[in-house]
Amino acid sequence: MRLLVCGGAGFIGSTFARLRVLEHGDEVTVYDKLTYAGREENLRELAGTPGFTFVKGAIEDEAAVDAALECSGAEAIVNFAAETHVDRSIAEPDAFVRTHALGTYVLLEAARERGLRYLQVSTDEVYGSIEVGTFTEQSPLAPSSPYSATKAGADLLVASYFHTYGLPTVICRGSNNYGPYQYPEKLIPLMVLNALHGDALPVYGDGMQVRNWIHARDFSRAIGHVLEHGEAGEVYNAGGPDEEANIAVVERIVELTGADRAQIEHVTDRPGHDRRYSLSSEKVRALGWEPEVRFEQGLAETVAWYRENEDWWGPIRSGSYRAYYERQYGRALQG
Ligand SMILES: NC(=O)c1ccc[n+]([C@@H]2O[C@H](COP(=O)([O-])OP(=O)(O)OC[C@H]3O[C@@H](n4cnc5c(N)ncnc54)[C@H](O)[C@@H]3O)[C@@H](O)[C@H]2O)c1
Repeated sequence: MRLLVCGGAGFIGSTFARLRVLEHGDEVTVYDKLTYAGREENLRELAGTPGFTFVKGAIEDEAAVDAALECSGAEAIVNFAAETHVDRSIAEPDAFVRTHALGTYVLLEAARERGLRYLQVSTDEVYGSIEVGTFTEQSPLAPSSPYSATKAGADLLVASYFHTYGLPTVICRGSNNYGPYQYPEKLIPLMVLNALHGDALPVYGDGMQVRNWIHARDFSRAIGHVLEHGEAGEVYNAGGPDEEANIAVVERIVELTGADRAQIEHVTDRPGHDRRYSLSSEKVRALGWEPEVRFEQGLAETVAWYRENEDWWGPIRSGSYRAYYERQYGRALQG
């Protein structure tokens, strides 16, 4: 397949691009604005590989999207491009509205003009929080943060292009991802790097927020699977095989890094923090996908990756990330 992968310089998009180019022989053009979270270094393993191209651009920029589609000859658009950090969406929601609403609209129009297949990458957060049980694709959307609300809005717009114009769209909603190349503002890399540097490990509230963890490679495999086998107009959930409370994840990271348990500090909870996410993946499993990586094994491998890849996170942790961290947690990083 020839694919335009929007947001492919981010954490999951770059994992997907590596998978599709190196293991499926797809021709992939990554189209990415390179926000603070988008990094060409995430694609270093693809540099110079036949069939791989990188184009810098924003999804809300219609002319640039058109040019990228013409050059790539893409048969399908896979849209990962997003602002993805809930804390940032609470502090500064504007970029979330622009990228998720306007950006998705521009991509849908470009797909409609050319009759391209369109896959929207989405999140379990659009369903909101669930105390017991799991969300299916029929569950109502009840997002609670500006991040999840704008992602839900994008999903509804995508669905409208199927119903109104017959555009062959599919939506794939993943649970919490982890793995190599995740920007260190997110729970797992933040805790791993703080643990390795002797910094405090700031746990929101009681730390009993439960997440359904999926390895980014498994989610990328699900997205590829849905792109190839999913039915137009449908939504497919892809949840990980294991659920874990945040505090248990942090305790496991303390063990894996050899840090001191006393580094764990409970801090004021995020406003409106969802207590539990859980996804039923029966529908995508029926298409022949299943996750391969259990959380315990994937977390140990991820910690090992961060230990071995200081050349990747070193420049991030010494740059503007430090100022963000201080604003968010009210204290400077020590290490
Ligand atoms: N991380 C998770 O746990 C998770 C779980 C489920 C779904 N998702 C979804 O997967 C997708 C990717 O998430 P991620 O964790 O890799 O995020 P990320 O923040 O690591 O990457 C996002 C990428 O999008 C790019 N981008 C942002 N705005 C853009 C714009 N206007 N135009 C072009 N590019 C733009 C950024 O430069 C970056 O490369 C998102 O749509 C997210 O909602 C993430």
